[in-house]
Amino acid sequence: MEQVKTLLEDHEIPRQWYNVMADLPTPMKPPLHPGTGQPVTPQDLAAIFPMNIIEQEVSSQRWIDIPEEVLQKYILWRPSPLYRARNFEKLLGCPVQIYYKHEGVSPAGSHKPNAAIPMAYYNKVAGTKRMTTETGAGQWGSALAMACQMFDLVCRVYMVKVSYEQKPYRRLMMNTWGAECIASPSNLTQAGRNVLAEHPDSPGSLGIAISEAIEDAVNSPNTHYGLGSVLNHVILYQSIIGLEAQKQMKKLGLYPDVVMGCCGGGSNFAGISTPFVCDKIHGKEVKIVGAEPTSCPSMTKGPFAYDFGDLAKSTPLLPMYTLGHDYIPAPIHAGGLRYHGMAPIVSHLVREKLIEPRAYDQLKTFEAGVKWARSEGFIPAPETNHVLAAVVDEAMRAREEGKEKIILFNWSGHGLVDLVSYDAYLSGKLEAYELPDHEIERALKAIKDFPKP
Ligand SMILES: Cc1ncc(COP(=O)(O)O)c(C=O)c1O
Repeated sequence: MEQVKTLLEDHEIPRQWYNVMADLPTPMKPPLHPGTGQPVTPQDLAAIFPMNIIEQEVSSQRWIDIPEEVLQKYILWRPSPLYRARNFEKLLGCPVQIYYKHEGVSPAGSHKPNAAIPMAYYNKVAGTKRMTTETGAGQWGSALAMACQMFDLVCRVYMVKVSYEQKPYRRLMMNTWGAECIASPSNLTQAGRNVLAEHPDSPGSLGIAISEAIEDAVNSPNTHYGLGSVLNHVILYQSIIGLEAQKQMKKLGLYPDVVMGCCGGGSNFAGISTPFVCDKIHGKEVKIVGAEPTSCPSMTKGPFAYDFGDLAKSTPLLPMYTLGHDYIPAPIHAGGLRYHGMAPIVSHLVREKLIEPRAYDQLKTFEAGVKWARSEGFIPAPETNHVLAAVVDEAMRAREEGKEKIILFNWSGHGLVDLVSYDAYLSGKLEAYELPDHEIERALKAIKDFPKP
């Protein structure tokens, strides 16, 4: 029988996260305080995050111990299996071996609990009683709802309205795990009321939902905010994916030629790839590719600039590829990829040419996702379909180049709660959105007065 799964025993789970900040060939630009234009200090962030998380956000220590309490929760589904997609390989008929980390095995169905668990844990240790957050597709919101329940914290999630309406089951998952889920923009915050006054039918965006969640946290007692992607500490927590993958590939006696992931705010892609970026910095030859939507192409079309992480400008100015903090992406079905910016770490790695971005439209991505479901069985999340489109693309390139390649990618989550989007695809109702050029002009206008990185 051909081997499909490579497993690690519970005791083989990595005990430390990897921090790529320690190995960057050039230093990253610092986040800036929008009032002073100076690098933010840990105190500037203290209204939003507890100090133990802020310390990790600014840390350049290479290895950071995973607390025992976090490992005890991780072990419910980690180490996640490494699969070889033999059926998909046969279907494509290209000279490639395709391996993937199956992050859909977590209770919430995606990689998001890798960050939610430590975030809830560190908040608990710091004395936080309540957390607020935003969510796009509902994957992050449901992960934080579960994690808050595990550490006895109250949780409120602001969910982008278009997804709230498209995906009622994610809201029910959050409710089942004891959290409250609010459609954003809402009337509960000034940020939400401002948007509704101008655009009563606003479909919402991650940028708006983040503003609401931050405003709520800042104005409520014993409350902190948790961000599901983009920031350095989230990328640190997600490194467990790549660290496990390295151990599993080593067991097989293999090393990938290409490492891939889909990109919303950048956390699962950075999670699988930063341990390989470290190898690349130290001389290993490996291609690393991030796949984003053509409707929200921050890395492939946006300028690299200082910009806010949210619409209401409540975050520090972050150095990143951005489509402007006021960008309202087309209501594509991959809600988790509808974010105007890209993680500063991922943006920096693109600028250093250590990783390569590519963009795919949602028709191409669903085509790949349905092919996958019909060959490998597991139904991918619409976000995950973006990396599948990139895998197909890479396999075709291998055939054209006449080269054998080993591809490793992150299967970021299952789509069992996203079947409405498959319905839209299968009944021919999905459109292939491209970012119009005038949107870049709008983005440049939105950031024109900010400091230049
Ligand atoms: C299944 C899945 N994959 C990918 C993403 C994109 O997020 P990130 O780029 O932070 O990994 C999301 C976000 O919600 C998601 O739910």
